[in-house]
Amino acid sequence: MRIKSTSKLEEGEVLGKSVFNERSELMLSSGYVLTEAMISLLKHKGFNYVYIMDGISKDIIPEEVISDVIRQATNSKIAKTFEGVKNNLAFEKFAPEEIKKRLVEDAEMHNIVKMTDVREQVEQMLEEIIDNNLTMFTSLPMKSESGADYEHAFDTSVLSILMAQEFKYDQHEMKTIGSSAMVHDIGKMAFGDMAEKKESDLSRDEKMLLREHPVYSMLILQGSEPDAFVEHTTVFQHHEQVNGKGYPQGLKGINKPPTKSRGNDKRYIYRMAEIIAVANVYDNLTSGALDGTIRTPEDAIVEIINGETGEWNQSVIKKLTKVVQCYPVGSTVRIKNNISNKYIDYRGIITKANPKDQSRPTILLTNNSLGAPIMPRLVDFKDEKEMSIRLEL
Ligand SMILES: [Fe+2]
Repeated sequence: MRIKSTSKLEEGEVLGKSVFNERSELMLSSGYVLTEAMISLLKHKGFNYVYIMDGISKDIIPEEVISDVIRQATNSKIAKTFEGVKNNLAFEKFAPEEIKKRLVEDAEMHNIVKMTDVREQVEQMLEEIIDNNLTMFTSLPMKSESGADYEHAFDTSVLSILMAQEFKYDQHEMKTIGSSAMVHDIGKMAFGDMAEKKESDLSRDEKMLLREHPVYSMLILQGSEPDAFVEHTTVFQHHEQVNGKGYPQGLKGINKPPTKSRGNDKRYIYRMAEIIAVANVYDNLTSGALDGTIRTPEDAIVEIINGETGEWNQSVIKKLTKVVQCYPVGSTVRIKNNISNKYIDYRGIITKANPKDQSRPTILLTNNSLGAPIMPRLVDFKDEKEMSIRLEL
């Protein structure tokens, strides 16, 4: 199986993995032979990539941090939770102050999110991560944020857990950060269609209004579970930045590792929020949710490091570079440079990642430097002294 951008799909190609719609219901089964109409629909629905099965890639098994079964079960539950908020709080019907008032005072609003359900799903994810010793984030976001809020929630959650694991959080803390990440944007659902837009398409007024969403997320959680202070704080602060230029409070960060020893100082951004903030930005960049441009994992990390997306805790960024698998199994890469010089500009599919050095994986070479197809050749680059590759989306 290989990962293919929907913009490059061709009629007659066969789906390697099933595709699910915005309510997380089965849309197309694996084995489906793609038609022109279906390819257009996939693009229209905002899918960035799908898995394709073909002769060349039939023996390649992509790695997934979390199994598809748990991913789909979780997505389906989260999608329903998000729908619940959308249906009850449609922004078109109420003014922001009215929404806040209802969230606090209306008892019915206190049941929209069941955090026990969310935690249950996160616990299953966590078990899989711990039982299988998983440390790497191996997925590319299948959808842009529009219409796929639950996928954004899921990926932000997994990535936050993997970074928390690097900071040696205990299991309970990892569950808390995973659950908070799952619902960090739940307040956005109150904005209806506005929340579906890319950030670059929003007017100034809409942008300002959307800045209320961390407050809504917190109020929704406070209503459903008044005692879950850590989760309330985490969702409330997921857009705060180290330099104090974030929102809603403009809190500052101190750029120290967001570990337990740091305690909870109300003057600064809470440690779990600092991790989720980075996971959130990374997923937005790689899914194209910000401006429609889908970044490779590598480019997204560079933008985050360079501060183009805001200023985030440096030690969290370091962990991000450690856990993100920039060249997932099944993805296509171009060889930019290798010491033997034999394969410069060749293209191929990653068949096995190299955990010691990501840019020296095993590649099934499929095209030569002129782009012409070659007899597929499997090359393990682990002993290359110097090598760089580039993901071709
Ligand atoms: Fe957000």
